[in-house]
Amino acid sequence: MKYGFFDDNAREYVITRPDTPYPWINYIGCEGYFGILSATAGGYSYYRDARLRRLTRGRYNNVPQDNGGRYVYVRDNEDGDFWSPSWMPTQSEVEDYSCRHGMGYSTIGSKRNGIRVSNRYFVPLGETLEIWQLTVTNERLVPADLSLFSSVEFCLWDALDDQSNFQRNLSTGQVEVEEGVIYHKTEYRERRNHFAYFACSEELAGFDTQREDFLGAWRGWDKPAAVAEGKSRNSVAHGWSPMGSHHVKMTLAPGETRQVIFVLGYHENDKDEKFDPPGSQTINKKTVLPVISKYLAAENVEAAFEALNRHWDDLLGVYQAETPDEHSNRMINIWNAYQCMATFNMSRSASSFESGIGRGLGFRDSNQDLLGFVHMVPSRARERILDIAATQLSSGGAYHQYQPLTKKGNNDIGGDFNDDPHWLIIGVAAYLKETGDFSILEEPVVFDNQPGTEEPLYVHLQRSMQYALDRLGPHGLPLIGRADWNDCLNLNCFSDTPGESFQTTTSKDGKVAESVFIAGVMVLSARELSDIAKESGRSQDAETYAKVATDMDATIREHGWDGDWFLRAYDDFGRPVGSKENEEGKIFIESQGFCVLAGVGVDDGKARKALDSVAKHLATPHGIVVLQPAYTKYYIEYGEISTYPPGYKENAGIFCHNNPWVVIGETVLGNGDAAFDYYTRINPSAREGISDTHRLEPYVYAQMIAGRDATRHGEAKNSWLTGTAAWNYYAITQFILGIRPEYEGLRVAPVIPERWTGFSVKRIWRGVTYDITITRKGKGNDVHLTVDGKAIEGNLIAPPAEGTKAVKVEAVIG
Ligand code: GLC
Ligand code: GLC
Repeated sequence: MKYGFFDDNAREYVITRPDTPYPWINYIGCEGYFGILSATAGGYSYYRDARLRRLTRGRYNNVPQDNGGRYVYVRDNEDGDFWSPSWMPTQSEVEDYSCRHGMGYSTIGSKRNGIRVSNRYFVPLGETLEIWQLTVTNERLVPADLSLFSSVEFCLWDALDDQSNFQRNLSTGQVEVEEGVIYHKTEYRERRNHFAYFACSEELAGFDTQREDFLGAWRGWDKPAAVAEGKSRNSVAHGWSPMGSHHVKMTLAPGETRQVIFVLGYHENDKDEKFDPPGSQTINKKTVLPVISKYLAAENVEAAFEALNRHWDDLLGVYQAETPDEHSNRMINIWNAYQCMATFNMSRSASSFESGIGRGLGFRDSNQDLLGFVHMVPSRARERILDIAATQLSSGGAYHQYQPLTKKGNNDIGGDFNDDPHWLIIGVAAYLKETGDFSILEEPVVFDNQPGTEEPLYVHLQRSMQYALDRLGPHGLPLIGRADWNDCLNLNCFSDTPGESFQTTTSKDGKVAESVFIAGVMVLSARELSDIAKESGRSQDAETYAKVATDMDATIREHGWDGDWFLRAYDDFGRPVGSKENEEGKIFIESQGFCVLAGVGVDDGKARKALDSVAKHLATPHGIVVLQPAYTKYYIEYGEISTYPPGYKENAGIFCHNNPWVVIGETVLGNGDAAFDYYTRINPSAREGISDTHRLEPYVYAQMIAGRDATRHGEAKNSWLTGTAAWNYYAITQFILGIRPEYEGLRVAPVIPERWTGFSVKRIWRGVTYDITITRKGKGNDVHLTVDGKAIEGNLIAPPAEGTKAVKVEAVIG
């Protein structure tokens, strides 16, 4: 069953009933100011860092779910009936409910008793504020006497402290109200130079800034006393829980429509100009007032909304495809690209499953995210790469995470996840292929944020590889450290203390446990580094790293092969993990996918055999599970992986992040049918029809779908912020459709299903628009190219002559 539909022309998903199985969210903001916004107007906003600069409160894991948000209440002043057009929080019955989640905006609305209300939320480009553009229409035959109440609950900035340090926080809240604008200024009196504000375009009948006054004792957001009575309290918060609410009264003639604009924003003042008059305790509003008045004007709001749409036209326009499959089309052209931007912006910090207080930016995650967005915003990719590299340790190792606000490595988690350094190489390679900007390699970058330690970025890449070479185990395979890509395969942890972190506890010296998965990653990263060296004129290095790749390839085939598939690892006792010798966890997906993707065993048949084993043992109709058989008990020598009940997360869940490795692996072996089949099994759009099983948003990928050992097989969790976004985008655009940037040109190497008769792609690459039409004439994957009317050898399109803006490519495959 479905809860809505795709409106592809509008680039929107339209939710038509509010009681989705779980909050179905969208993101607003794409630069410094961000918000989570559910289809029932739940969610919160923050400036840059979801933990340290949280503007408003949202409540996780609450009942009913999705509590706290950007709520508007409408009250019919004739009979006292009141409701929320977004259904939550009053849950009143409404007609025509819809939520249109679009690119950086959502419009939520409904109708009750002839009053139609719709609210469009978005963040203008270049601003640190959000707009609520509310439209009210009286569809009755008689005039309507209405009250509108806005509401947000302010967070006292540090979201973790806000939820825990009540003895202090309930006494610190401060606001100002001036000319109808509500200013939240907790801690502004001391060390903060930022405040939040909430403004309204209309004259106010009243306002509230103290939660308990607005709601009334023992009442919730579903029936605030001020709304029920149609009368704000004009409360000014001192301590307790500062909030913002405007009360607007209006009488609408039959058929009349009125627009009301609310602006919620974040503003910083110069440290020396915080107060006006100087020496007072009153916020200096000189620089914020012009911003507020700009966005309270409807024409500026419209212009900002159009600019946002054009921004998305440009971003999405870089790669547009027309294939025989509508699910692929809308994921490639709209939603998967959009999700890639969200994961780039949020990393793994703020979603319905990530509280925004737990994790910073992951070193490996952010580097992989690059694969999905580098073509849309190369300049921000460059910036991100340099930020990440600046947290690298001089050993070549990496902090597993860093905080976006400080850009410093996170000491609590530390490093020693031995796959981390490789991802920097893989991320930089993607950037170079996209842009050809080799100057980034010479950019001086510090280690561990220490001034004076600058080395060219290229040296950072070398250190990454050296780190791996310095950490080879008894079989010559890479030592695993605390964990590799699979955060939960903790072979050196041996934890028996409740609550201890599996990611930071290390009880073994780590000289034995090895990872075949990292070995596969290393084959790829060494080859990438060799190519980078070659392309930047370092031929000696190119040879060295090429040899690292071939040596590791050979080591995997010798010590990483189990007979029918690749082993996953060796544990601290030197025993194989992911082997037919094991009782449980006999076969894992990661080493199959990544080794084949990296080309290991392609020539000697091992690759094919490994992927056949994946099909036989790991594939389900809902996707490919991590491992089989699932661990049914706790193995102290394996760690967190065996803490999850069978079928969930890393213990035999369908971890959607690694499915595309197998997809790409199948394309490497030329098997388009299998590649596309796996791709489609986890494609959220293709799963829309089973929304009651899948339960999460059908427009974005989830990190995990419960595996076949789980009671709720097919149910997704952890949507939005996942490496799944980038990897699936990369798999379909660059390997199935096969249009990929390389150092010497644009490669056209599709490996599509046999039944497809063709497809077309428009790809803007390094300023040139490639119009590519592919026609299938036979069953194979051989490519014959005609470029601007001329047949060429091979499948690589060399860069056109200077000044060329468009290239027409016709490809026949078969
Ligand atoms: C999470 C982490 C990612 C890790 C994966 C598998 O998605 O963000 O870094 O690779 O889990 O454990
Ligand atoms: C847990 C999760 C894993 C995630 C990690 C992040 O181990 O199972 O998916 O990557 O936490 O720290």
